[in-house]
Amino acid sequence: MGVKCRVLSWDEVYSLAKSTADEVKKSKFRPDAVIGIARGGWFLARVLCDFLGVKDLYSIKVGHWGVTAEKDQEGAKLHQGLNISLEGKDVLLVDDITDTGQSLEVAKQHVLESGKPDSLKTATLLHIATSAYKPDYYGKEIEWAWMIFPWNYWEDVENLITKMLENKQMTPGEIAEYFLREHGIDVPVSNVNKALIDLVEKDVVKPDGEDRYSLTKLLR
Ligand code: ADE
Repeated sequence: MGVKCRVLSWDEVYSLAKSTADEVKKSKFRPDAVIGIARGGWFLARVLCDFLGVKDLYSIKVGHWGVTAEKDQEGAKLHQGLNISLEGKDVLLVDDITDTGQSLEVAKQHVLESGKPDSLKTATLLHIATSAYKPDYYGKEIEWAWMIFPWNYWEDVENLITKMLENKQMTPGEIAEYFLREHGIDVPVSNVNKALIDLVEKDVVKPDGEDRYSLTKLLR
C-alpha cells in the first residue's frame, strides 16, 4: 500500500469550516482579524470571516511540505511575514490541517513577535491526532492520511502520478487502478487523462505510444 489518501469535496470542506466556526462561537472568542497561512489556510480563513463577521483578513506564507505527501528536509519556514501591527486586536490564525503542527507553530511565533496582538488563537479544518501542536479550534480530528483538498486536487493528482511513473510506464487505466489499490481513492480515468495532458505540457511526462506514459527525466 502506498500513501493512504482521501479526497475531500467542496461540500465537505465547507461543512468542516462551519464546524470550526461553531467551535469559535461556542468559546466566546470574537476575533477582530483573521490571518490565513498561504496557501492551505486561505479557504478556511476567508470562510471564517464570513461565518464570524470579520472584515480584516491578512495573509502570511509558511513553506513546509514539498511535493504531495513528502516532507521538505528543513521543516517549516516563514516565507512571507506580517507588515502590520495587530496591537489591541484579538486575532485568529488559520491553516488547513495540523499534521506535525510545525507550520502553525512557526506562524504563531511570528505573528506574536511581529504583530503583537492582544490575543492569538489558532484554527484548522482538520487536526491529525498525532500532531505535536493542537489548534484551539478545528472542524474534525482524524487519523493520518494525505488529505486531498479541493483547492489542491490537480496538483496532488499530478504529483502522485509523477511518483507512480518513477520506475515504470503506465496506461491511464493502470494509473486509475493504482490510485484505487495503493492510495485508496477513486480518480476517474478522465481525470487521469486531464492530469497527463497537463504533465505532458509541463514536460514532466511523455507519451510512449500504445497509450503508455513515462517520465521525461529521472527524478532526483
Ligand atoms: N499538509 C500537511 N500534512 C498534510 C496532510 N496530511 N494532508 C494534506 N495536506 C497536508
